[in-house]
Amino acid sequence: MSDPIDSTTIVDVTDVDPALDTFTCLVTAESRLREAQRDRVLGNDLTEFERNYFGPEVGAVRRAYNRTMMKHMQTGGRLLDFGCGGVWWKQDYWPSFSEVTACEVDRSALKEIGAAYPAVRLWWTRNGLIGTEESFDVVLSSSVLGYILPEQARHHIACAYRLLGEGGQLVLTRVLAYDLAAWLRGRRLVDLPGPRFAYHYSKAELVRVLRDVGFRDIRYHTLGARLPGLSWRINQALYKAAPPLMTQAFPAMFPFFKVQHMLTARK
Ligand SMILES: C[S@@+](CC[C@H](N)C(=O)[O-])C[C@H]1O[C@@H](n2cnc3c(N)ncnc32)[C@H](O)[C@@H]1O
Repeated sequence: MSDPIDSTTIVDVTDVDPALDTFTCLVTAESRLREAQRDRVLGNDLTEFERNYFGPEVGAVRRAYNRTMMKHMQTGGRLLDFGCGGVWWKQDYWPSFSEVTACEVDRSALKEIGAAYPAVRLWWTRNGLIGTEESFDVVLSSSVLGYILPEQARHHIACAYRLLGEGGQLVLTRVLAYDLAAWLRGRRLVDLPGPRFAYHYSKAELVRVLRDVGFRDIRYHTLGARLPGLSWRINQALYKAAPPLMTQAFPAMFPFFKVQHMLTARK
């Protein structure tokens, strides 16, 4: 079968730094796993996937979180979707920007996007960092930080800062929260099947990294809660039936039940 996206369409923007070679190994291992998972399990059909899977990445939970993101995201300008993943959900936010650049460590995700969104620029980075003279109005980092190590996360945020123009906005969303479940397990770094891992952040830690890197006007936005003891399937049903209960009332009453964090900040 011929490959619809050639190597000239996907631009290698890796910011080469020998001090970060360890990250390249980590990122390569991660992207291989994702590629295999994309072929084996995910496919492109979200409706099909949502029939059998009920985690917070999809369904009514994801739709509610995307709505909150859109309420606080500055639209209209040049967007860098940093760690964009595959084609799912892009219709919710990409059409609101004049130009979109999709950046990934996983080439298979970029190929998927290239086929569905021919106008979007495709950037690939070997180590998760980007070297370019270009700047953006908005950098979106959605569901990336929770799946890289804290030291990498610091580089990711610093890189986002460099890539923003003066006054530009960082939207950091869907970062796994250090919630009750993670606290009860007594571990921030959690093994996932795959083998993969996840890292759970407190709000204070995220604010500190953003501040250290130079961001100002840092704002926290509540996404929603998960009621412990209930399966994701039931939580999804609650998000569908009573969104304000799950996105506002429960997080305010039980802050330790938060699923993910969202923050915005300015350069
Ligand atoms: C859970 S997915 C999220 C995809 C998409 N942003 C979303 O919100 O649905 C995390 C993505 O981050 C990418 N990623 C992993 N390490 C990264 C790094 N160091 N820098 C940027 N992206 C990375 C992965 O390849 C993966 O596609």
